Amino acid sequence: MSTFSAPKGTYDLLPPDSATYLAVREAMAAPLRRAGYGYAETPGFENVELFSRGVGESTDIVTKEMYTLTTKGGDHLALRPEGTASVLRAALQAHLHRAGNLPVKLWYSGSFYRYERPQAGRYRHFSQVGAEAIGAEDPALDAELIILAADSYRALGLTGVRLLLNSLGDRECRPAYRAALQEFLRALDLDEDTRARIEINPLRVLDDKRESVQRQLTGAPMMRDHLCQACKEYHERVRELLTAADIAFEDDPKLVRGLDYYTRTTFEFVHGGLGSQSALGGGGRYDGLSEMIGGPALPSVGWGLGVDRTVLALRSEGIELDLPAATEVFAVPLGEEAARTLFSVVTGLRRSGIAADLAYGGKGLKAAMKAANRSGARYALVAGERDLAEGVIQLKDLGSGEQRPVPVEALVTEVTGLLARTGTPNG
Ligand code: HAM
Repeated sequence: MSTFSAPKGTYDLLPPDSATYLAVREAMAAPLRRAGYGYAETPGFENVELFSRGVGESTDIVTKEMYTLTTKGGDHLALRPEGTASVLRAALQAHLHRAGNLPVKLWYSGSFYRYERPQAGRYRHFSQVGAEAIGAEDPALDAELIILAADSYRALGLTGVRLLLNSLGDRECRPAYRAALQEFLRALDLDEDTRARIEINPLRVLDDKRESVQRQLTGAPMMRDHLCQACKEYHERVRELLTAADIAFEDDPKLVRGLDYYTRTTFEFVHGGLGSQSALGGGGRYDGLSEMIGGPALPSVGWGLGVDRTVLALRSEGIELDLPAATEVFAVPLGEEAARTLFSVVTGLRRSGIAADLAYGGKGLKAAMKAANRSGARYALVAGERDLAEGVIQLKDLGSGEQRPVPVEALVTEVTGLLARTGTPNG
């Protein structure tokens, strides 16, 4: 008999670790909800062309990493490698930008797929929480998003996160810079692939990780020295707002990012505990993307935060999140009649908002108590025939071991009161 494994570059999320992933997603989403971002969900696949046009024909994501397929009906689809193009497509399709209330602020959470070489922190299926503010050009919006991301890392207790910041200019100043950079790069000693990249996407060469390339880049022209006045002022304003909000950042003139749609503000959150896959999350402004995918001019800004890597960062800092107990009360029935009574007590507790579970499968006292302890519950409810004959259930404090009988009808009120008094994380 053969057993199946999860495909290469993927892993399963199962309890107890899965609770941390949910908590991370929630920590990223909570600041967005408080800032007026509405939840969006788009399909896991889109027409290939949305990404090739949106993310860029010359990017690794589009040329090497997309999972593409042709359906029986002849549609060319791709599993989504990122969320920005999809969310913008959805907003345009629903005419959200015409409702007269710009920016349209949306957030999302879900799975993304990239056919990358798997390694620690780099998977073929991974999870992001993302945010996009569509249709407004305002440095305060760029700053807002950066602050919201920084606040979510802070709320998780991470201290080793660094913020790298750059401006990539706009359609006014980027072309002249691009030409100057190309001229500089063409004179270097580079391999064939990199020489080809100079012609298609020269800015990406700045991001080359190889020492032999980096050494030759000393003295390369930098975008920040070629920004037009409008871009310079815009960037300065973003920096001021971040400083005023107490957000530390480092100017990184070589920060380019792996997607082609960026203009002006770009940023990345990196963490030292992640090895070579150090980017926890990143984003920036994409003022031309809407037009690239057939929409009107809609200057926009957004980010995507990697959930998997954030969990790794938490681990590397030794942070255990304070998660609510999965089960607060665990019922141990001894015999069939007790099973029936406790089943309805457990149902009542759950309906009153208490996390309760029951020993199933007719377990004996010992095995059932073991299950109660393993569940992490604060209280066990134990009942046998004699208890039921007296109309009571034994309420046992699993911490102190103390036990006392409580009348069946009073149980839900009694337990609710106890949990409220002792202040469980769920209460
Ligand atoms: P990205 O930088 O490609 O940006 O991805 C954002 C984050 O997703 C990364 O910083 C990383 O934490 C995580 N990530 C990416 N690829 C993988 C992988 N193979 N395994 C694990 N985690 C990964 C975007 O996707 C843009 N859509 C962000 C954005 C939104 N820009 C504007 N709006």
